[in-house]
Amino acid sequence: MRLLFSTEEIREKVEDLASQIRGDYQGKKPLLVGLLKGSFVFLADLMRALDQPLEVDFVRLSSYGHGTESSGRVRVLHGLKTPVRGRDVLVVEDIVDTGHTLSYFLESLARRRPASLRVCTLLDKPCRRCVPVTIHYRGFTVEDVFVVGYGIDWAEEFRYLPAIYALEKAECASKTSSP
Ligand code: PRP
Repeated sequence: MRLLFSTEEIREKVEDLASQIRGDYQGKKPLLVGLLKGSFVFLADLMRALDQPLEVDFVRLSSYGHGTESSGRVRVLHGLKTPVRGRDVLVVEDIVDTGHTLSYFLESLARRRPASLRVCTLLDKPCRRCVPVTIHYRGFTVEDVFVVGYGIDWAEEFRYLPAIYALEKAECASKTSSP
């Protein structure tokens, strides 16, 4: 496992993102919507760094296909319960990869007429993008490596790691072949 971003680098990046967001949402009470499961650690830190009136809700979507490849078909496992009409909605993601998950969700949110709709992601992997998505607040850009930690998993492992790591190919292979 190779360290990509230390806890200190993440902390500084979260502060930086929070400062940008705070400036753009002055006098507003944004609704932060986290995409589970991966975003819950980032959202928890971002929310506290923002230190302003806001609301939080979560959705759980599943983009399914073969193995780790997204098919582009997205299933809603737990939908958004908070009404978004007229709200300033900020979608919070841990990572944008192909863009399928976010694109699907943004389309469904836009139909519900929010006052504004923006995206904040901690990690962006633009080299893997299949569907264009506009990202308003971006933490780190990463190359085509499998990342884990800070809420992000590999086959449900490693979410607990406080920093962000790249998994080596051999580690992915051994996990894939385990029962
Ligand atoms: C990950 C991540 C994003 C999505 C990005 O979630 O949290 O939501 O994949 O991929 P995409 O841009 O190719 O659609 P995942 O489906 O692994 O679920 P999890 O958050 O529960 O781990």
